[in-house]
Amino acid sequence: MIKKIGDFDLVLFGGTGDLVMRKLLPALYHQHQDGNLPAAGRILCLGKREAPKKASKKSGAALFLARAQTLVKDYLGAAYQEAHWAGFAARIEYMQLDAREAAEYAELTANLAQHPGRVRVFYLATAPDLFVPICQNLAAHSLNRGQTRVVLEKPLGRDLASAEQIIAEVGKYFEENQIYRIDHYLGKEPVQNLLALRFGNALLEPLWRREWIRDVQITVTEEVGVEQRADFYDRAGTLRDMVQNHLLQLLSIVAMEPPSSTDADAIRDEKLKVLRSLRPMAPEDVYTKVVRGQYRAGASAGQPVPGYRDEPGVPPDSRTETFVALKAEICNWRWAGVPFFLRTGKRMQERLAEIVINFHEVPHSIFGPHALKPNQLVIRLQPNESVRLYMMAKEPGDQMTLAPVYLDLDFHQSFKTRAPEPYERLLKDVIRGDLSLFVRADELRTAWTWVAPILTAWENSTQEPKPYTAGTWGPAASSRLLSRDGLCWHEEE
Ligand code: BG6
Repeated sequence: MIKKIGDFDLVLFGGTGDLVMRKLLPALYHQHQDGNLPAAGRILCLGKREAPKKASKKSGAALFLARAQTLVKDYLGAAYQEAHWAGFAARIEYMQLDAREAAEYAELTANLAQHPGRVRVFYLATAPDLFVPICQNLAAHSLNRGQTRVVLEKPLGRDLASAEQIIAEVGKYFEENQIYRIDHYLGKEPVQNLLALRFGNALLEPLWRREWIRDVQITVTEEVGVEQRADFYDRAGTLRDMVQNHLLQLLSIVAMEPPSSTDADAIRDEKLKVLRSLRPMAPEDVYTKVVRGQYRAGASAGQPVPGYRDEPGVPPDSRTETFVALKAEICNWRWAGVPFFLRTGKRMQERLAEIVINFHEVPHSIFGPHALKPNQLVIRLQPNESVRLYMMAKEPGDQMTLAPVYLDLDFHQSFKTRAPEPYERLLKDVIRGDLSLFVRADELRTAWTWVAPILTAWENSTQEPKPYTAGTWGPAASSRLLSRDGLCWHEEE
């Protein structure tokens, strides 16, 4: 049974930053507008950027709310209902606080002391180097008491060692079951639907294995480039930004064994087993099984766009990857020999996130020369989420001509309700104390361990990332990765 959302104080560190303004406040607003938040639910936004030096706190708060309202309106578009704004704004308090300064936590402490019985959530939407000082300061003011949770946003480290450090340091102040490591891909409706599809239907499970599945493709591509994030992105690159977290999480959900229940640890135990079964990449594998690319000037939505190295803030000789395609293998009884192809990149032809399950060909065709296309299950995360099962059927007419058609699970049609954005779901889960869609420390560690040899091989290599033209599907080497196994990416069929 779903747990109730109790009264809460949600404290947003990094409260004036992009994530809070563009994702968290709009998500909370939407939930408020839909009547899903309890009346006693406060949002404390902590920041220092907003108020001009001599402005009073009041004008800082007013400025903050005005900016938040504009962004919420933009984000929700037609769904925004002005009538609800005042009620939502009444939940918000804006407070200036330098997260590194222990003395500045006194006001926050006094503020939270007004509601000792509430669920307390500290959401660290900050740079990771602030995670530890914030946790230290929260502990120093005894703010971790009762039902207290801390939410950590990615990036959770830049390699195994730094992730270990965050895990250990935050672990000094909070128990593992108080720590909510966000991977917003887990909050996407179709990802949860994958669980429903796999474990709510008897039909798929017997087929969900090496005997029937030829290969799996997981693609997450974006049309946008590096945008205004060159400072972060050029130090991270796509492997750290997308593969280590979002793509490996998707892979683990596709490949996991049936968990014993929907309990957080039952699900996370099974995901962890998948991550632990990934065949480690030997240094020489990195050259044959991983493609790294970087976009050059091209076009996006019909407009010319610069290459990555010409983006503001990117060094002209940057070797940071903006594209990764790789072949992963899962060494267990269910999946031995089934390649899992992962691909993600910026400035690609389309914004697309989908999981494609390619089944084997029929063992023998009775239809003579007619080409039979193997069955395919396509789970589209975005845009236009859908699940389609492609099958061969006879075309109407005298001839026995076969063509692929699909069975379509159209969620909007069937359920006639909107699909909430990931942060709407995830924020409510934190408040109600449900950890199922959050990453446990051992998962994080295992994912970093798996990508580590790739990072090392690239660091030691003199090779440049493979160039690809902005607005395409990536470098030619990405297609070759599959054609070596006689396969091709879904859109190339
Ligand atoms: C973030 C990455 O985690 O995910 C971004 O840091 C990326 O670089 C974003 O753009 C993609 O998320 P979505 O939900 O828009 O596919």
